[in-house]
Amino acid sequence: MPVCDLDKRVPHGKKVLGIDIVVWWDKNESSWKVFDDACPHRLAPLSDGRIDKLGRLQCAYHGWCFNGSGDCKLIPQAPLDGPQVHTFKKACARAYPSVVQHEMVWFWPNTDPEYKDIITKKKPPFIPEMDDPLFSKFWINRDIPYGYVNILKVDREGGKPLDIVVEQLDINGFFGKYLLDSGKFVAPCTYYNYVDPLLASKFDFGYAPPAGTDHKIKKLAEQQRMVFFFFCVPVSPGNSRLIWGFAKNFGSWIDNIIPRWILHIKVNIVVDSDLHLLHIEEQKIMEVGPANWHKACFVPTKSDAFVVGFRRWLNKYSDGQINWGAGKFSSGTLPPAPPRQQLMDRYWSHVVNCRSCSCAYKSLNALEVVLQVVSIVSIGIAAATKQNAISATARTAMVSMAVIGFAASRWLAHFIYKNFHYHDYDHTLH
Ligand SMILES: *[C@@H]1O[C@H](CO)[C@@H](O)[C@H](O)[C@H]1NC(C)=O
Ligand SMILES: *[C@@H]1O[C@H](CO)[C@@H](O)[C@H](O)[C@H]1NC(C)=O
Ligand code: FES
Repeated sequence: MPVCDLDKRVPHGKKVLGIDIVVWWDKNESSWKVFDDACPHRLAPLSDGRIDKLGRLQCAYHGWCFNGSGDCKLIPQAPLDGPQVHTFKKACARAYPSVVQHEMVWFWPNTDPEYKDIITKKKPPFIPEMDDPLFSKFWINRDIPYGYVNILKVDREGGKPLDIVVEQLDINGFFGKYLLDSGKFVAPCTYYNYVDPLLASKFDFGYAPPAGTDHKIKKLAEQQRMVFFFFCVPVSPGNSRLIWGFAKNFGSWIDNIIPRWILHIKVNIVVDSDLHLLHIEEQKIMEVGPANWHKACFVPTKSDAFVVGFRRWLNKYSDGQINWGAGKFSSGTLPPAPPRQQLMDRYWSHVVNCRSCSCAYKSLNALEVVLQVVSIVSIGIAAATKQNAISATARTAMVSMAVIGFAASRWLAHFIYKNFHYHDYDHTLH
């Protein structure tokens, strides 16, 4: 998760690679911690707990407390003069090695002590621009109802012919080029590409620069740099989390003015636009077997090169699928398809997990109530005052205010529903 969307005051429950984890801020060590989301006492989710006054993670069920290493520090039910049961190994919460890089919390999904210092040997993928203070960054996270395997896509509807070439494919990923752009897939879950700002401004990867201006565009691209990044996190079969954003070293004033949630509305529309398609596509591919992808699909143009490259990598190094371990997801079977309304839901897939959108959602709902109150109070005043106590003009003003307040509150209710709950996207009418 991007750190900007995590609240330090509360523990957060998340699912990654089928593992339930709790992410919480240890103020004693000033670092994010990732534990198994199960209390060693009776397996209650620690994410339902709280951070206590001493900054420890406390289970909400019987109040056991854990420090940043997972050591149990308090068992309220244990008598003080009895055996020190909290010091037992079995009283410890299971802590995963974790680190913050690129303003994002990463963890190693294994609690075995041999991996305790894994971070010194194996680091998350590094994108230089994301660590550069001269670059402004934009983030969004969204839970997506299709698998990580289907997220990786740079192709779009109406795309013009794209000359994409994939190079250097090996276990660590691959590198690809088109026009002045270049993209890199860092296995298993990171993709980023450098975007020519002129191309980016068109938001159309198929745009060809006008003839004769090549060197000018190249020069501009050298000074003004922009990188799109995608982190695709497998959650469970048929579910993934997309952490998407960009870093750029120009025009950052505009990013400082426009609140994040306004940009999120636009990004969410893009995600929704092919959500249903990809959800269905994934089920069809599961029916033929993921390893048969290249037989089932017909991909004759170079614009599919990235997707073909990714499938090649997946088949070669991961048997065409994700290894979900021995747990309940071992078969990789997809869950039944939810109704469209649930599939396209924005509230649970994004708003609750985004600090900017959840804050805007609360404020806009409060504003809707204020508008309703204004409307009711105005009509009340207009109706209750005696005929000659206020002038006709004042009365008209009151009635107008009531009407405007009512209309504005209705409009706002619709806006909130459409942007924070459910926005259907119908291709047939476009
Ligand atoms: C804070 O950290 C120090 C040293 O790591 C430790 O001695 C102390 O007990 C910790 N306090 C809590 C509340 O975990
Ligand atoms: C947690 O407690 C253990 C045992 O008292 C101590 O060794 C360790 O340093 C503590 N960890 C943190 C992060 O405070
Ligand atoms: S289950 Fe957590 S304290 Fe009992």
